[in-house]
Amino acid sequence: MTPQPPDAAATEALLAFWRDAGVDACYLDAPVDRTVFVAPPPSQMVQKASASVTALYGGMSGAEAVNEARRLAAAAASMDDVAQAIAAFEGCPLRAMGARQAVFARGNPKGSILLIGEAPGETEDLRGQPFVGQAGQLTDRILAAAGLADQVFMTNTVFWKPPGNRLPTPQEQAACAPFLERAFALMQPKAVLLLGAAAAKSVLNTEESLMKIRGQWREWRLAEGGVSAPALATLHPAFLLRQPQAKRVVWADILALASHLDTAQVEPDA
Ligand code: URA
Repeated sequence: MTPQPPDAAATEALLAFWRDAGVDACYLDAPVDRTVFVAPPPSQMVQKASASVTALYGGMSGAEAVNEARRLAAAAASMDDVAQAIAAFEGCPLRAMGARQAVFARGNPKGSILLIGEAPGETEDLRGQPFVGQAGQLTDRILAAAGLADQVFMTNTVFWKPPGNRLPTPQEQAACAPFLERAFALMQPKAVLLLGAAAAKSVLNTEESLMKIRGQWREWRLAEGGVSAPALATLHPAFLLRQPQAKRVVWADILALASHLDTAQVEPDA
């Protein structure tokens, strides 16, 4: 049978179907038939497994990647340095999974609130800034309504878009954590706002559910340098887009944050 040329409309429809299902990046030129397993000799299997793990971390092991991130982060003396160090860092597996660029932060680095979300999404990846998609715009509106808009510096637990808008893994978060911690240490905010379970669990190092910890003040304390700040977890804005009735809960948390800052006597133009 003569192979037929691909039908462009059918191909586009198929790609759109996969994109809607979350498949938004390709890593290989040809598909891999995962239903067929050809076992290589055991010695090659170990070599292959460790080579593919180090390839994920830019040629390093996971532990080496964290050490490299710590080294780069420690040398950063300003937020601009942190941004440059992140752009130069090759140890986060997400970097090689279809992300266009590193997405670090936006907002006021001298403000009183460090806001931490989960991960950049598609719009953030395109524009190189966090919280600029629909969920970010909702976050901006909530903060503005509470009079906090110019007090906030926004970032995420990871700095590259995860494929298919999935949650970042603990390993990806661990590789990025030294930069997040450095930003925290440089900023020394009066409060930290954690959006969503992935941010809350990773920063507070807890397995407790978001519904249990949201609205409660916890402390984020770095192991070194004596840096700490009260941290409040709340629901993720992407959840609010799907469940608008939950905005009430987030609004209560944001008012608690504003009142905490009032008590901490924040300078309006800080
Ligand atoms: N945009 C971000 O940058 N992070 C989130 O967690 C959500 C939207």
